[in-house]
Amino acid sequence: MAGEIKTIGVLTSGGDAPGMNAAIRAVVRKAIGRGVAVKGIKKGYMGLLAEEIVDMDAHSVSDIIQKGGTVLGTARCKEFTTEEGQIKGAEICRKHGIDGVVVIGGDGSYRGAQALSKQGINTIGIPGTIDLDISCTEYTIGFDTAVNTAMEAIDKVRDTSSSHERCSIIEVMGRNAGYIALWCGIANGAEDILLPEKYDFNEQGIINNIINNRKKGKTHHLIINAEGIGHSTSMARRIEAATGIETRATILGYMQRGGSPTCKDRYYASIMGAYAADILCDGKTNRVVALRHGEFVDYDIDEALAMQKDIPEYEYEVSRVLSASTRTDN
Ligand code: ADP
Ligand code: F6P
Repeated sequence: MAGEIKTIGVLTSGGDAPGMNAAIRAVVRKAIGRGVAVKGIKKGYMGLLAEEIVDMDAHSVSDIIQKGGTVLGTARCKEFTTEEGQIKGAEICRKHGIDGVVVIGGDGSYRGAQALSKQGINTIGIPGTIDLDISCTEYTIGFDTAVNTAMEAIDKVRDTSSSHERCSIIEVMGRNAGYIALWCGIANGAEDILLPEKYDFNEQGIINNIINNRKKGKTHHLIINAEGIGHSTSMARRIEAATGIETRATILGYMQRGGSPTCKDRYYASIMGAYAADILCDGKTNRVVALRHGEFVDYDIDEALAMQKDIPEYEYEVSRVLSASTRTDN
């Protein structure tokens, strides 16, 4: 039996991500294995404030590892960004005998966990977002499924784009980060890859590429555009007007967040979930689990939130070289 920790809670918060269920399952089973009871908090911080709290046991997480979404539900909750909301959340935890909470979500959710720990409830974060935009970790649960889903969809758009000899702009998610766009851009062999961290808004450069490609006999031109740049539909209109080549925009949207998680997402979510339960049961607080240099580690949340990460320069350079068969700007 671990120290003073008798009961922990687990919640998912922010955008859902494939693999969150595997993480919930691992938290529940690892804690129970250590003799610690687990309560599921539904719909993130919103469910905490509404006291939507249920008892969980090993059986309650059966048959979920293969499922997309999150069985606990998720939400964005404005009230929890206020101090009153955070005090209320901590009081509700105490009322339900919850000594600590595992929070599965993105860096917004980490700020909520940080606030809860300041109110005396132990918290551990697990990186759960398709965006891969959490600085302290090389891996976030859901990214692998999302890029595989997007990659398959983009292959399909490429088929029809080639048949009609069209140019296609495909917009992928990622909020302000370009990781999904970079990975899909490379994996789908796109002609142009637009990342919020790098894009110089030189649309004329893209137009020149399309015209040069067409002269060389290419039947398609794939542009992967990140959500953080957006405006794919108006971009398509301008490109069509400037090139005379039919141009279509496809915004992949929420399909990227759904579906059965890949093996990688299930595996990493399981290890990170178990790790989070372990350190929470050990009495640690205000920590987040991360993958760093290929190893599972944990960081103080304040330290984790202060870290910065950017698109890896070499990988970006490779993406430029591989898509540059006709580019005139390099
Ligand atoms: P993600 O966790 O995916 O980054 P959000 O940024 O929407 O998603 O954050 C999820 C939730 O975390 C918010 O709806 C809010 O309840 C909580 N949260 C975000 N920022 C803060 C903050 N500064 N203080 C307390 N709670 C926060
Ligand atoms: O963080 C995951 C994500 O899907 C982002 O890629 C996107 O910007 C955002 O969530 C969309 O959020 P919502 O579900 O609130 O529309």
